[in-house]
Amino acid sequence: MNVSDSERVASSLVSKGFEIAPDEDSADVILLNTCSVREKAEHKLYTRVGQVRSSHTKKPMIGVMGCVAQLEGETLFNKISGIDFVIGTQAVGRVTRAIKSVLDHGPGFSDLGEREADYDWSVSFPQLHSPYVAFIPIIEGCNKFCTYCIVPFSRGRERSLPASDIVRNVLQLRSRGVKEVHLIGQNVNSYRPTTDSGLETFPGKTPFSRLLRAVAATGIERIKFNTSFPRDFHPDIVDAIDENENLCNWVHLPVQSGSNHVLKRMRRLHSIERYQKIIDKIRSSERDISLTTDIIVGFPGESRSDFEDTIKLVQYCKFDSAYIFKYSPRPGTPAYEITDDVSLEEKTRRFRELERIQREIQTANLQRYVGRSLSVLAEKRSAKSKDDLSGHSTCHRVVNFRGDTKLLGSVVDVTITEVKSNSLYGKGVTAA
Ligand code: 5AD
Ligand code: SF4
Repeated sequence: MNVSDSERVASSLVSKGFEIAPDEDSADVILLNTCSVREKAEHKLYTRVGQVRSSHTKKPMIGVMGCVAQLEGETLFNKISGIDFVIGTQAVGRVTRAIKSVLDHGPGFSDLGEREADYDWSVSFPQLHSPYVAFIPIIEGCNKFCTYCIVPFSRGRERSLPASDIVRNVLQLRSRGVKEVHLIGQNVNSYRPTTDSGLETFPGKTPFSRLLRAVAATGIERIKFNTSFPRDFHPDIVDAIDENENLCNWVHLPVQSGSNHVLKRMRRLHSIERYQKIIDKIRSSERDISLTTDIIVGFPGESRSDFEDTIKLVQYCKFDSAYIFKYSPRPGTPAYEITDDVSLEEKTRRFRELERIQREIQTANLQRYVGRSLSVLAEKRSAKSKDDLSGHSTCHRVVNFRGDTKLLGSVVDVTITEVKSNSLYGKGVTAA
């Protein structure tokens, strides 16, 4: 979501006559986009402002946007010296106003206001992070209030974009040569637009599965979506994937813990039994759907036996990948008020143990691709070898393969020959 916010801010700046500087040193304005999901991310801002201030002779204007900006607001001016303006998560359409205010009246401008009704969600083509892959927000904010999470406070309530706008955006991107779109949002499957516009002719059990069918009908080559929320994960999503080849075979479904006791204290609104049922449905698909998740270890009150339940769940689900985090207390969240009785050493021990188990599972999972042919979007030259290209499979695996740069932007069939830690290596490229 932050990458997508940055792309839209860059687009609006360019449309108003600004130029995107080729490097930090030549910039007159530096915008720092921030995350506050975990404490570590927040610390980065403090370090970065210091770095910019000390390494630049011409003293660029510094603006802060993103979740830290929204949560801290004007207090940032006192906490970190050298910041000129602060722009909240919904005020990103008004960055030029902030720059103008600093030029006219000096530092100290902040805007934490709401998003404009006519906010332009599209990204101009040159500002996309890749010419072939585009992120499309379909819902912003979050109403779930998991007890550990700051997002509902930093990003506000859920608001879904009209399907007709989303479909128009996809069609435009397709005509510009974009091959893959990612429908993004904190909880994409909680999608609930206020109008049926764009969904009229698309059946489905939920607005999200109807949207998936509507976007599939645009004919864009590949569609991925994340993140999904377990409670709102209707089996019809899997049916939509089964029906449409261009809906990719990848589901990211954060479970957070394998213990019902912990899930309840996290206020996740799903049980392990219900989660396993969804996994069974996903696994029953004829497509080989890759499954990834997020897990928090060391949540307050997590006993050794709760943690062992998480290990059991990981062994049951055999995730293709998992982002594992140590619980990080976030001021302002309900969990912050609970005594954190799992020591940092114990959190680290559980993190390492789970990471090791998950790594073994995913390495074994990856072996299933060896000898198989995967459809890969050739996105860029590989960072490791100049003769190789790199891209993602439909199951969202990184695949490196021998290939000519002429293939960039096309979808190719790659025969997988080797598993290298987290990625796949292949040769025998043929046009898909
Ligand atoms: N501590 C640790 N991890 C967190 N996440 C969200 N809030 C916290 C927190 N306070 C993780 C969750 C979420 C992912 C984006 O970040 O696993 O799914
Ligand atoms: Fe945070 Fe929970 Fe919302 Fe995800 S669903 S953004 S974890 S509050």
